[in-house]
Amino acid sequence: MRGLFFFSNNKNKIIEIKKIFQTNKYKLLSLEDLNIDGEPEEIGRTFEENAKIKSEYGFNKTGIPCFADDSGICIESLNWKPGVHSKKFINKFKSKESCFKKIFQSIKNNGKKRAYFKTSISLTINKNENIIFNGKLEGTIAEKTDGRHGFGYDPIFIPRNFEETLAQLSINKKNEISHRSIAINKLISFIFN
Ligand code: IMP
Repeated sequence: MRGLFFFSNNKNKIIEIKKIFQTNKYKLLSLEDLNIDGEPEEIGRTFEENAKIKSEYGFNKTGIPCFADDSGICIESLNWKPGVHSKKFINKFKSKESCFKKIFQSIKNNGKKRAYFKTSISLTINKNENIIFNGKLEGTIAEKTDGRHGFGYDPIFIPRNFEETLAQLSINKKNEISHRSIAINKLISFIFN
């Protein structure tokens, strides 16, 4: 493969993923490197569809093989929502705390504590040639928020076989088990093996 383009506006993700590719002596291009602006509307109903919308957009703009990701949390007590709307859902509350309160209340109402994070990565290597890599992290919603690491829903999510929330785990530990790292590792082994 000539070069590879990672389509994302998230600076932290770009830094994280560029690091992984550097250790493999592989040049990863980002939106900034290619001087591209604009982004497609994420109108997919699944993580896979949204990731594919983004990777196809990047490929069509540049002709360079392109990958993109989409992630979120699915919560049993909310009928497995917010899913692809995870960012919108948390942002519509006045604070993260009031969002978490709403989630805790839904569990008090129906007793359903399960949840999972999912990441889908789509790699577009040619027109209409996409490969999808998925990662899933299963667990439960905690009884109260805890921890100061991470972001988003980390303070209320306890991974299966753990007693702490994701926000109580170190970043390195989270990266060992996370939905995102599972999907990225599948992409990496596809590219480098
Ligand atoms: P994105 O598609 O990776 O940007 O994720 C969309 C939204 O899902 C984020 O804004 C977070 O609210 C939530 N999310 C995704 N991954 C994680 C995670 O690892 N921890 C906590 N929240 C996450």
